[in-house]
Amino acid sequence: MGMRTVVEKQANEKRTGDMSGTPDLTREPPREEPARQYYFIEKCRQYISEESDRLGHPLTAAVITFGCQMNARDSEKLSGILAQAGYVLTDSEEADFVIYNTCTVRDNANQRVYGRLGFVNSMKKKNPHKRVALCGCMMQEPSVIEKIKTSYRFVDLIFGTHNLFKFAELLCTMYEGDRMVIDIWKDTDQIVEALPATRKYPFKSGINIMFGCDNFCSYCIVPYVRGRERSRRPEDILGEIRSLAAQGVVEVMLLGQNVNSYGRNLERPMSFARLLREVEQIDGIERIRFMTSHPKDLSDELIAVMASSDKICRHLHLPLQSGSTRILQAMNRRYTKEQYLALAEKIRSRIPDISLTTDIIVGFPGETMADVEETIDVVKRVKFDNAFTFLYSRRTGTPAAAMENQVPRKEAQAGFDRLLSCVQETAREQVARLSGQTQDALVEEINPHDPSLLTGRLSNNTIVHFPGDPALIGRIVPVALLENHGFYFIGRMAK
Ligand code: 5AD
Ligand code: SF4
Repeated sequence: MGMRTVVEKQANEKRTGDMSGTPDLTREPPREEPARQYYFIEKCRQYISEESDRLGHPLTAAVITFGCQMNARDSEKLSGILAQAGYVLTDSEEADFVIYNTCTVRDNANQRVYGRLGFVNSMKKKNPHKRVALCGCMMQEPSVIEKIKTSYRFVDLIFGTHNLFKFAELLCTMYEGDRMVIDIWKDTDQIVEALPATRKYPFKSGINIMFGCDNFCSYCIVPYVRGRERSRRPEDILGEIRSLAAQGVVEVMLLGQNVNSYGRNLERPMSFARLLREVEQIDGIERIRFMTSHPKDLSDELIAVMASSDKICRHLHLPLQSGSTRILQAMNRRYTKEQYLALAEKIRSRIPDISLTTDIIVGFPGETMADVEETIDVVKRVKFDNAFTFLYSRRTGTPAAAMENQVPRKEAQAGFDRLLSCVQETAREQVARLSGQTQDALVEEINPHDPSLLTGRLSNNTIVHFPGDPALIGRIVPVALLENHGFYFIGRMAK
């Protein structure tokens, strides 16, 4: 099965460094990055071509992604390396090489990976040359590695979140031996630029602006598995976006665990708002999105930049987590219910057409129904346009996991159900406000359920389906929002 992907051209010429053209494999691998990885990509090409000759068909590879937008972007980087090394990319687990890019933010993400491993093991028994790799957040947990070493011995390669840039080198090691290759780094400051990537959509792309997180919310495992916060240099980010724009990208999504603290640790510090202003100057980029914001760091400067911008989308994802000040304190979120409400009000008053979305956790240790009522109160007052609600998941190693007052599942579920119906009601009301308006939509794809329709996204992230020519995919067109279907619209292109 084929997969529609676009291979990105490199943002800058860094890769040339001491090497122009094809790396010379008769010499030692270069020490500096990314030249070293280009050397190993070339070496992989040989191994892959030999194996494909032996098997009599081109080798296929699939990257299966769990979790957030960061992981999705990491998977594009893995796919970019696989494509350059000579694999044909597919999205089927039937592939000759399957890589699971894992998530561990909640336990159900881990369980899904173990489920997939059981399935892929049965395929590998029928097809012994098949290879399997695991990477991503879950692999940063020592207990997971132990479990895989004892119960999933067929896995060929395991690496983590800090050494993803070494993927080509690890692939070579995998080809050169027949034992399980495990390479996990605890943490690193290193950011390697200018490696290949592929993109799922030709017209939009995620861009990492920072890695890691220093906030240590007490329930969250991310700071432990993604390491300390580090920002990419603005010139690298802007260079990458310019090069994407030159390749036809019109929408960029700036990615970080806490974009509002971007740039604080740079040699020459720079605010996120300032970075946005610079991205806005880039010709060809028509829409700018970003994820995720932490309420404690969201500045007036950012609100002002958003309010005055034509390109920054009318959407802000602002995780609330809880509406109870007591629980927020135990979560180490560093804002109160009142501060969150005041911030949301300020944003709505300065950017009236903005859509506000959020994340909420129910069942945090010590949470009572009265706390859930506080959260519901915030949902009703802020009127979130959408909210992702999660049952608290106990993550080993986090401070909250050691708290004694864990909430029984049944109680948490009752609070969750109450919250969910309230969230759905406000989301429906918010979407209904748009009925009858005409708004610009970026046409993203042919509607997978009804090929006579195109699917587009409004600046505020609402989805609209409407009849139109598939040649419009990647273009921004005005659409009249005719029928409200709760969470999306059916529309008609306006002249
Ligand atoms: N349990 C439940 N939800 C969690 N999140 C993060 N850690 C946990 C956890 N231990 C949620 C938060 C975060 C989103 C990405 O995942 O709401 O914003
Ligand atoms: Fe986790 Fe909090 Fe960092 Fe988000 S800000 S990744 S919830 S620790």
